[in-house]
Amino acid sequence: EKAGYDHFMLKEIHEQPRALRDTLRGRIDDDCRRAVLDELNLEPGFVKNLNKIFVTACGTAFHAGVVGKYIIEKLVRLPVEVDIASEFRYRDPLIGPGDLVVVVSQSGETADTRAALREAKSRGARVVAITNVVGSSIAREADSVLYTWAGPEIAVASTKAYVTQLAAFYLLAVWLAGERGALPGEEREDLLRALRELHHGVGQILAGAGEIAALARRYHQRHCLFFIGRGLDYAVAMEGSLKLKEISYIHAEAYAAGELKHGTLALITEGVPVIALATQPELFEKTLSNIKEVKARGAEVVTLTFQGDHDSEELGDFRVYLPPTHPFLAPILTVVPLQLFAYYAAVYRGCSVDKPRNLAKSVTVE
Ligand code: F6R
Repeated sequence: EKAGYDHFMLKEIHEQPRALRDTLRGRIDDDCRRAVLDELNLEPGFVKNLNKIFVTACGTAFHAGVVGKYIIEKLVRLPVEVDIASEFRYRDPLIGPGDLVVVVSQSGETADTRAALREAKSRGARVVAITNVVGSSIAREADSVLYTWAGPEIAVASTKAYVTQLAAFYLLAVWLAGERGALPGEEREDLLRALRELHHGVGQILAGAGEIAALARRYHQRHCLFFIGRGLDYAVAMEGSLKLKEISYIHAEAYAAGELKHGTLALITEGVPVIALATQPELFEKTLSNIKEVKARGAEVVTLTFQGDHDSEELGDFRVYLPPTHPFLAPILTVVPLQLFAYYAAVYRGCSVDKPRNLAKSVTVE
């Protein structure tokens, strides 16, 4: 049932190109001009007059929501708030009938996410669920459902579900932008075209998994690691850090690169590994200066980026180059080496990869 892989997690990481294709199938029109999301059932009037969007979820699904916030705000130019479901449900959120709430849940059964959904509905907001399980509680209770087609996810650590949740957010954002006339047609087309081809890039990264395994071998006995980035890269850093913690038990922290000098830089000493994500052209120079900042304190830096004309020496001690795509879609690529890194680190440490201690796949209690 693991199809020749040692663990479900590795199998599921390798299923990502397929999961991505399945999630996009039928949702991008032939000439890549429109996202086709009839299942949303949102009336044009509601979409035109939308006040605000909220995203709420737990864990990895929450991290997908953080990417979702950046994407929707950038493409749709509407304010988006993203909240952990166990916070959202108890903070008396300021939502009402003109708002859209997007809840994200692989299982569709997470207690806090389900409670957040009910809270949103009771205040008159419209709820769209992004979920992977057909007929799950969250799918049944939401006003509309955007299914991810990752297929069953068995490993406790979520991988392919996250990638398909990101795909769902790109589709949703392009769709909303289209309905609201918020994005020029060519820009929509560029994005949708790149999105449709992105599974090839994911496949290329998987084919180079050996390089990531070697990095994991190098760092698997360390006690602490940092992930840094800005913007979309910061959002993915959060997910990379969670993956490493939950399956390898190595303490990791994700930091907004610009925030380091406000405290955390104190922890950067000789030999501390820092994984830097630097995929966003408009933030590249800024992140580069943060890489210098940690290098100057002795950190060992691994940088994930696109091939460019920059001096590779500046990019830290090790570089992982991502296959070319629209930089705005980078999260779907960047997360893959981070998943592989966490996986191999856990394997080298002899951890129970598919069933990490203290964790359950579906959290149906608060
Ligand atoms: C991490 C992980 C958890 C889940 C979280 C939400 O790898 O799997 O953080 O993402 O428990 O679960 P769902 O998406 O089923 O609501």
